[in-house]
Amino acid sequence: MQQKSPNVKWQHTKIKREDREKVLNQKGLVLWFTGLSGSGKSTIANEVEYVLNSMGYATYLLDGDNIRHGLNSDLGFSKEDRKENIRRISEVAKLFQDAGIITLVTFISPFREDRNNARKLIPEGRFIEIYVKCSLEACEKRDVKGLYKKAREGLIKDFTGISSPYEEPENPELILNTEKETIKESVDKVINYLKDKKLIR
Ligand code: ADX
Repeated sequence: MQQKSPNVKWQHTKIKREDREKVLNQKGLVLWFTGLSGSGKSTIANEVEYVLNSMGYATYLLDGDNIRHGLNSDLGFSKEDRKENIRRISEVAKLFQDAGIITLVTFISPFREDRNNARKLIPEGRFIEIYVKCSLEACEKRDVKGLYKKAREGLIKDFTGISSPYEEPENPELILNTEKETIKESVDKVINYLKDKKLIR
């Protein structure tokens, strides 16, 4: 988005991310969960956050449904609004990461371009795209929130997977197949990935 305020100059701060990370004794990260509604993003991210918190890490979970109640309450589900939703949340995730926090983000984030733009905002190696993979059929069968049924009845327009597209990640750091794996297996995969890459102690 074009900046509307050309006469504003970037102010450099004395304390940098590295200094904040030193105090926290951890690395600021963005764990970006993407997938269809009902694929398991929130469930898994909540469990991952629980494990990280138990290990003594400072974390924060930015959840799609929750953020749409506050910061993004002015946005709907048109392509433009979803793009703006993800743009804002990418900037928020960048700030949290820069504060040294392990930031978990759970938005459908259906467009590849928007996810790639989010990645570009975050320092190399600190953005972990996690594809929570689950077929439309299985998500629809689960229909935890009853939204697929409503969408099929034509009561919700632009519904992801039905009347609005979902673009699968091409090169995610991790794929969690929630039709085949248990929640614990998916959570372990995330934690083990972070350990293997030495992103957590
Ligand atoms: S995103 O596409 O802009 O990334 P986001 O993750 O914020 O979506 O919100 C998705 C959640 O909003 C879904 O989990 C679902 O509960 C709810 N929802 C309501 N209407 C829609 C819709 N038309 N398409 C997808 N999800 C919807």
